[in-house]
Amino acid sequence: MVLNNTLCISLFLLLIACNTDNQSTIDTNSKDNTPSNPKALYAIHCDACHGVDGKAGVSGAANLSISKLSDKEIENTILNGNEKGMMPFKDMITNPKDIKSLVDYVKTLRK
Ligand code: HEC
Repeated sequence: MVLNNTLCISLFLLLIACNTDNQSTIDTNSKDNTPSNPKALYAIHCDACHGVDGKAGVSGAANLSISKLSDKEIENTILNGNEKGMMPFKDMITNPKDIKSLVDYVKTLRK
């Protein structure tokens, strides 16, 4: 009986231990202090239309390598989209740090 109880408790603790490890999905919106990964963000959210080098132009996407927008304008375009068909990302990329790093990353695509 004593042995059975010990076994039960052990299994219970094992279950709890297993349950804490349930955050295996990538959380691009996390508000923790891990550094932003703009390359990954761009790959997830942007390159399908703009292309890895910014020049793909899929569904009318702007050529980011010749874009002349200021930081503020890039940020505004990412957050709110624009009238030429860029979609708003403010509900998808909610961490300001991620937006900031994406703005910098977009500028690296310029020649
Ligand atoms: C569904 C396709 C699509 C996706 C995904 C997309 N874009 Fe766009 N993007 C567009 C279109 C269409 C335009 C408008 C074309 C224009 O402004 O001439 C645009 C315009 C822009 C512009 C304005 C460029 C300029 O010089 O006017 C920026 C900056 C931009 N996108 C950045 C991004 C970033 C960063 C992401 C990812 C967070 C992203 N886009 C995701 C389609 C997309």
